Amino acid sequence: MKNILITGGAGFIGSHTAVELIEAGYGVIVADNLSNADTTCLEGVEKITGQKVPFYQIDCCKKEDLRKIFTENRIDGAIHFAAFKAVGESVEKPLMYYHNNLLSFITLLEVMVENNGGAVVFSSSATVYGQPDSLPVTEDTPRKPAESPYGNTKQICEDILMDAVKAHPCLKGVILRYFNPIGAHPSALIGELPRGVPNNLVPFITQTAARLREELRIFGNDYSTSDGTALRDYIDIVDLAAAHVSALERMTGHNPDGSCEVFNIGTGKPISVMELVEKFTEVNRVPVRYKITGRREGDVEAVWADTSRANKVLRWKASRSVEQTLANAWAWEKKLRGIN
Ligand code: UD1
Repeated sequence: MKNILITGGAGFIGSHTAVELIEAGYGVIVADNLSNADTTCLEGVEKITGQKVPFYQIDCCKKEDLRKIFTENRIDGAIHFAAFKAVGESVEKPLMYYHNNLLSFITLLEVMVENNGGAVVFSSSATVYGQPDSLPVTEDTPRKPAESPYGNTKQICEDILMDAVKAHPCLKGVILRYFNPIGAHPSALIGELPRGVPNNLVPFITQTAARLREELRIFGNDYSTSDGTALRDYIDIVDLAAAHVSALERMTGHNPDGSCEVFNIGTGKPISVMELVEKFTEVNRVPVRYKITGRREGDVEAVWADTSRANKVLRWKASRSVEQTLANAWAWEKKLRGIN
């Protein structure tokens, strides 16, 4: 059995990825400093899979703490999620973002090289494309200068992994550029747990439906899109998690030249903010109060993925409908809030 270290494994994407990996027969070890998560989702992972997950509450920037994991476990690969992710906060606290997001990744790679290397998946983002000149975006669409320190850390970490894989033959790398991950596990045992007021659309919708928030603000209806609201590619969290299993398989077998490959992980289908809100209401039969406000600074008008490379090379494809995904998101929110 191959053992995979998931840094940031107690979080939204990390916990869903842990489930998919365990179900695919991998051993999973989680490292998380719980700065933006608690153990709720880890407990959920154990309930879903029926397996105990070794957990280290550590800061991945601390080399000694990471080394301990490698001393106590045979690690064949790592998936790196441990990072701060709020765009606005990164503008206010750039040093904190650069320090944490870069140092944790560099430290992980250093410790892996000390321990005979292995496969590395880096969790990147569609944010690296900014507002692209043409749509959908392929992996060869040029990256745009980052709009925020957060976005910049994604670009820099991509470059770090590319360079590290070139220089250290013991390392293999895959970069996954996620579009907009949404939803929750169908068991409603794990899902998104935003701290404070959610920044992202779907948790804001579910919290508004649950009456924790008075109303959703739709940021702008004057974009050049069919209904004037922005277009995104919303990808089901379980589909997205499954892409990590495919990425690991790619590295442990088929990639002939050992280069660090990049893949878009999305559905390939754009949906507008308004359409998403309407679908949520329709599928879950629950009202969501909203009002239209001005655009949010830093938002792009439209971005969605060309997923052909992931479909072909990783043999991975998004399979869940957005309706199913929105139903899962609502089931999770209801469970959290004790709503029947
Ligand atoms: C953001 C980040 C992205 C990150 C992703 C997932 C940027 C600019 N954005 O993407 O890097 O990978 O989150 O965490 O880097 N919206 C509303 N009302 C709200 C919230 C959102 O109308 O209360 C709209 C936004 O204007 C946008 C869409 O919903 O058009 C999606 O927003 P959001 O969920 O925040 O994701 P992104 O900004 O696309």
